[in-house]
Amino acid sequence: LDYRAIQFLISAPTLAECPEDIGAEVAFAGRSNAGKSSAINALTSNNKLARTSKTPGRTQLINFFSLSEQQRLVDLPGYGYAKVARAMKDEWQRHLAEYLEQRTCLRGLVLLMDIRQPLKEFDLHMLTWAVEAGLPVHILLTKADKMKNGPANNILFAVEKALKEKGLNRGVTLQTFSSTKKTGLDKLERKLNAWLAP
Ligand code: GTP
Ligand code: MG
Repeated sequence: LDYRAIQFLISAPTLAECPEDIGAEVAFAGRSNAGKSSAINALTSNNKLARTSKTPGRTQLINFFSLSEQQRLVDLPGYGYAKVARAMKDEWQRHLAEYLEQRTCLRGLVLLMDIRQPLKEFDLHMLTWAVEAGLPVHILLTKADKMKNGPANNILFAVEKALKEKGLNRGVTLQTFSSTKKTGLDKLERKLNAWLAP
């Protein structure tokens, strides 16, 4: 698949406003500021495609990007942005849950976690839900450029081990990743290709 050809499709505030539930879709999920929008931009080599920000909570809608008529990537709103009102937070979570539970074209979840703070409460909730739902998950330990390769790989192994111990490793793969240094892009593309294959 040609990830450089990705185009912004639509922002949907609710499930009802999402594009038709056909073809194949992969969603990028993770805590606020984990680097979801940056990862999508890195894939396309277009830094303006998905809006990124130093302010957590930038992405508040479900943003759809199309690779082809039948293949899409989805930038989900980040979890854990403390500065928004409680009611608004609950609403996002409701839309997020609706999307995850009802979207039949969803083939897999890319779960992004800052390598310096992996496996937070939200990540464990997402993983537990996905494993139980039988939805495959590919974990990106993001911002790996913030540390040396040795320590980064140690964290990768530690996370892998922790998931195994928690029984959360079925259908789960993981890698280190950096949007700024573009490391791990090939591996991510291979995973997306496999999931989005017709
Ligand atoms: P929300 O939309 O709030 O959920 O955040 P997000 O997950 O989309 O994060 P976003 O891509 O906006 O990135 C958040 C911040 O982290 C920005 O300041 C990015 O520049 C920075 N960032 C993202 N990826 C990387 C990376 O690989 N390395 C480094 N050093 N910084 C990164
Ligand atoms: Mg974002």
